[in-house]
Amino acid sequence: MKIVLGADHGGFELKEDVKNLLVTLEYDIIDVGCSSTDSVDYPDFADKAVSSIIDGSCELGILICGTGIGMSISANRHFEIRAANCNSEYTAALSREHNNANVLCLGGRVIDKELALIIVQTWLRSEFEGGRHQRRIDKFSK
Ligand code: RB5
Repeated sequence: MKIVLGADHGGFELKEDVKNLLVTLEYDIIDVGCSSTDSVDYPDFADKAVSSIIDGSCELGILICGTGIGMSISANRHFEIRAANCNSEYTAALSREHNNANVLCLGGRVIDKELALIIVQTWLRSEFEGGRHQRRIDKFSK
C-alpha cells in the first residue's frame, strides 16, 4: 500500500517520526514535504498530498500540522477526500471503520510521539465496515 505524507512546520518533526515508522513497516511512502521547521502554509501541503490520492497514485494519506485542524479542513475541501483529525486510538479506528477516512490528520503540537505512532498503526490496521456506513457516506458523496 502506498501512503502519502505531508506536513507544515508544526507537524514536520512528527512527520519524520511517522515516516520512519512506515518505512520500518515496509509501506511505500511519498513525502510531499515540508522539509524543515521553517514556516510554511499548511494548505499548500494538504493540496499536494491529496492530489496523489485523487490521481490514484496513493491509497491513503497522513497530514500533520500543529493541531491537525488546518490540514483536515484543507484536505476536506476536496470532494474525494475524507480526512479525519484523530487524537486517540478510538477515533482513529472509527474514522476507518465508520467513515472510511482516506486521510489521517494529526496535531504535532497536541499529541506526543508515542501516542501518534500508535494512532497511525491503529488507523492503518482498521478496515471500513460498509453497510449502513456506506449509505451515510453516499449521502455526502453526490
Ligand atoms: C501553524 O502555526 C499552525 O497554525 C498550523 O500548524 C496548524 O495548527 C493549523 O491548523
